[in-house]
Amino acid sequence: MGGTGLALEVTDLSVGYGPVRALRQVSLTVPEGAVVTVLGGNGAGKSTLLRAVSRTLSFHGGAVTSGSVTFGGRPIDGLAPDRVVAAGVSQVPEGRQVFARMTVEDNLRAGALGAPGDRRAKASALRRVHGLFPVLADRSHQRAGLLSGGEQQMLAVGRALMASPKLLLLDEPSLGLAPLMAARIADTIREINSQGTAVLLVEQNAALALRLADRAYVLEVGEVALSGPVAELAASDEVRRRYLGVVDEDQDTDGSYAAVAHPVLTRWEEIR
Ligand SMILES: Nc1ncnc2c1ncn2[C@@H]1O[C@H](COP(=O)(O)OP(=O)(O)OP(=O)(O)O)[C@@H](O)[C@H]1O
Ligand SMILES: [Mg+2]
Repeated sequence: MGGTGLALEVTDLSVGYGPVRALRQVSLTVPEGAVVTVLGGNGAGKSTLLRAVSRTLSFHGGAVTSGSVTFGGRPIDGLAPDRVVAAGVSQVPEGRQVFARMTVEDNLRAGALGAPGDRRAKASALRRVHGLFPVLADRSHQRAGLLSGGEQQMLAVGRALMASPKLLLLDEPSLGLAPLMAARIADTIREINSQGTAVLLVEQNAALALRLADRAYVLEVGEVALSGPVAELAASDEVRRRYLGVVDEDQDTDGSYAAVAHPVLTRWEEIR
């Protein structure tokens, strides 16, 4: 894609929930048009990082204590959440949140509220969403609560896309989905990105995330333990063992140890 015009820059960000320090001096960049993934175990601070970018921390009782966030060179860390959306950054929060009693169509409409662009822009965003997720067109008038879990996740992603973001923040889109549905979500993320939207993808499913991403950051207890281009991370045995759950070939007698130790991971050879 080239150009750094619409890069997200997180610099030395620290976040707390009252006395709980959730992020310490985290720095991260998402170049324009890139897919960047943030990996890490439960409680590492992945969701906190996305909330800090989308300015939704206060809904969870959290606050940024130091550091800065800019998008396209403009500070966005003083904005209200709807202004962040207007600036081109939309979040799909953790846990497949849809308005269960509203129709699919109204859920999507809600995603376009407050977003920049006229009616034509919104109509074209809706066409894009229906193109990516035909099921959302078929179920347009159905209540969102009646959709399957995977379909609700599609709706949550579709709703964020209705704002035509330049950067999509995705919090564990594959969580709780059957492998086939997770694979479909992954394909869709790739397609969304190829249409020009940068993606900051939080995942515990490292296998899925690393297939999609250009660059990865590993968070451990609120700090960046490791970062780099996905291909570079793959080259280090240390990284493979510690963070990707891949064991040495000679120890890996039945080929299943890694999968048992880390149920969400597959062997690196399968990842690449
Ligand atoms: N609303 C909250 N109030 C208090 N502490 C919180 C809150 N949300 C998260 N934390 C704490 O902040 C730290 C980071 O949590 P966060 O939810 O960002 O982790 P995560 O990497 O997204 O984990 P998971 O993979 O389980 O979703 C954890 O110690 C967690 O207990
Ligand atoms: Mg989380």
